[in-house]
Parts: sequence; structure tokens; C-alpha cells
Amino acid sequence: MKGKIGNRKIYAVLFAVYIVLLIGMLIYYKQMSNKIFVVKGTSAEADRSGICIMSERSKEWAETGTPGYDKGMEYDFIIVNPGDAEIYDWQAEINFGTGFVIDSSWNGTFEASDGRLTVKPDERTAVLQPEEEKTFGLVMISLNEQQVLDYSLYYKANYKYTDSPAFWLVAAALLLTLTVFITDEYNRRRYSKLRKSREEIHAILMDSFTTFANIIDAKDPYTQGHSLRVAEYARLISGKMGYSEEEQERVYWIGMLHDIGKIGITDVILQKPGSLDNEEYYTIQTHVDIGGAILKDFNALSDITAGAQYHHERWDGKGYSKHLKGKEIPQIARIICVADSFDAMTSPRVYRKALTVEFAKEELEKCAGTQFDPEIVPVMIKLIDEGAVPIEIRS
Ligand SMILES: [Fe+2]
Repeated sequence: MKGKIGNRKIYAVLFAVYIVLLIGMLIYYKQMSNKIFVVKGTSAEADRSGICIMSERSKEWAETGTPGYDKGMEYDFIIVNPGDAEIYDWQAEINFGTGFVIDSSWNGTFEASDGRLTVKPDERTAVLQPEEEKTFGLVMISLNEQQVLDYSLYYKANYKYTDSPAFWLVAAALLLTLTVFITDEYNRRRYSKLRKSREEIHAILMDSFTTFANIIDAKDPYTQGHSLRVAEYARLISGKMGYSEEEQERVYWIGMLHDIGKIGITDVILQKPGSLDNEEYYTIQTHVDIGGAILKDFNALSDITAGAQYHHERWDGKGYSKHLKGKEIPQIARIICVADSFDAMTSPRVYRKALTVEFAKEELEKCAGTQFDPEIVPVMIKLIDEGAVPIEIRS
């Protein structure tokens, strides 16, 4: 969950970075579109690689019709936009150096003052699309021959953020991150739902097993809580033996039902306060076979039948009811056997008080290799010595 929250922080940072970049680009392009650019040129034959004004004196003649002036000239101008942005709101100042008057003009508004021509475009020349050229011109009358000395062109360029590859790159990154984020969130919620439902099923299973264990223990009032304690000891032993968390839980559940066969034993014998005769003792022993029979169809939990059937087998083969020996006895049964015997010793009986932990430990050690698996006894002893076994001596 912590990792997921970490992921959300990364997404938040990424989104913030992308949005700041996009807003930054929008502001930049807006500012660029409002900026007034200036190009200065000196040559009539300007370089067409940049925005420029080219000029040509296309005609000249001796002026006779205007008193005080003796020359007439026609100038044609071309404004060139070789760039990739639209040009608008432009104005030019063309410097001829000496005075003249305007006779006529086209494609713009012209003003002459002290040899300087100011040009403002009309509706035909106002906007230049990328790679477009437009012409304008005038006829002037003067005393001297006129020549363009230099010019200044002022313009605005309509830079569009949509023309920028960087903008689309950031937008695509934002979209991609958004898609991944939504997928991630969807999976996280789905996973959380699944986990919740798994936890519910697990809780139902745990409660069901505990209820079964309580039913079993209710049959024998002298062993209250026996099944749950054996299950816990068996789980601890398996953990110490290197079982995984999942396997330990399986051992716990199997431990809870190890005495399920007692359901089939009459209460008269189970709850008999005095000592048992041989026949009664034999009847009690049948609880392992009854348990094995009850659980024979419980296939979903492997070894659960073995736990009930073989937990009274002995390492030396003198146990019951199948007289299995050593490692013929399934490991789960050998684990439960040690757990079961330890709890039996440390629980009170009608004919005796609970034995001490020290005594139980000695008994386990004494019987390692005869009654108990000699490799499991040291594991149990170690758990007891480490204080890992929750022993509550009941009197
Ligand atoms: Fe038993």
C-alpha cells in the first residue's frame, strides 16, 4: 500500500511537470505573438531566407507635368515571408534619403516625409501566410533620382503552439501518463476489492475451523482449548522447521481438526472421571480411524486426513492405529504428535494436576526416538526455551 501511495506521488509530480510545461509553452507562444519584431535591411535585393522587403525601380521618366519636379519613378516592393508563422500587423519605413512626393500608390497606405516613406498595409497585404509574398508600390515625383538606402520592417508573427513538436510531445506524455495512471488506479482498486474478498473468505474459513475445534473440545470438558493449543504449537514447530507462512497456516488448520474423530466417541467414555478399562481405552483409540474417515473427502487441504489419522503413531512403530514407523508417518502427524503430547502433559487431568513445563520437556527428550520424531523434539524444546510457546499452565 505504501508503494502504491509512492506511485501516486510520482504521478502527481509528473502531472505537475507536464502541466507547468504546457502552460509555460502557452504563455511563451502568447507573448511571442504579441511581440513586435524588427528587421532592418539595406539592400534592394534582400536575402529571401529571412523576412524582408525587396524593391525595384521599375520605371523612370522625365516629369514635365508637375511644376518644381523633374523626375518621375515607379517603385515596386515585395514583402517576403519565408518563415513558418503568419505575419500580421506590419509596417515599414523605407528611407530614400532625399525628399519626394507621392503621385499614386497601391496595396497600402503611404506617407512621405523628409525622404522617408512609411508604408501601412491595406486589407490585401495585411496578412502574410507562411511562404507568401505580397507586393505594393508607388509612383513618386522628385527633383533627384531616388534610391532605397535602407528600410525597417516592424511586424508581429502569429506563432501557434500547435505548430510546436515540443507541445505535442509533452501533450502525448501527459496523455500516456494519464492512461497509465488510470489503468494503475483501476488495477489497484480491483486488487483491493479482490484482497478484501479474499480476507473475508479467509476469516470465514478461520472461524469455521475454530468452530469445529470448539465442537471437538466441547466433547471432552477436561481438554478445553486443546485443539487450538495443539494447532498453535504445531504451527510454531512448522515455522521453526522452515515451512512458509502459507504452509504454517495449513498446519494450523490441520492441527485444529486432528481430534475430530472424538466426535464419534461416546461421551460416557470421553467424560468418564475415573480410569479407563482396556475396552474403553481401545474405544478411545478408534478416534484416529474415525477422524481419518470423517476427513477422507477433504481434498482441498492436503494432509488433513493424515493429521487426524496418524497423530498417535509412534516413531518406534508402537503407536496406533496403523503401527507406522519413523518417516513412514507423515511429517504433519509427527509434528502434531509432539504438540499434542506437550499440551496433554501441561494440561490438568481429572486424575492429576498439570505437569510442569520442565517435566514435559524432560519427557519429550526422554521419548525422542521412541515415541517422537528425534528431529522434531529439539525444535519444540528450542521454541519453549525461546519463550515462543504461549504456555499457560492450568490447574
Ligand atoms: Fe488425539
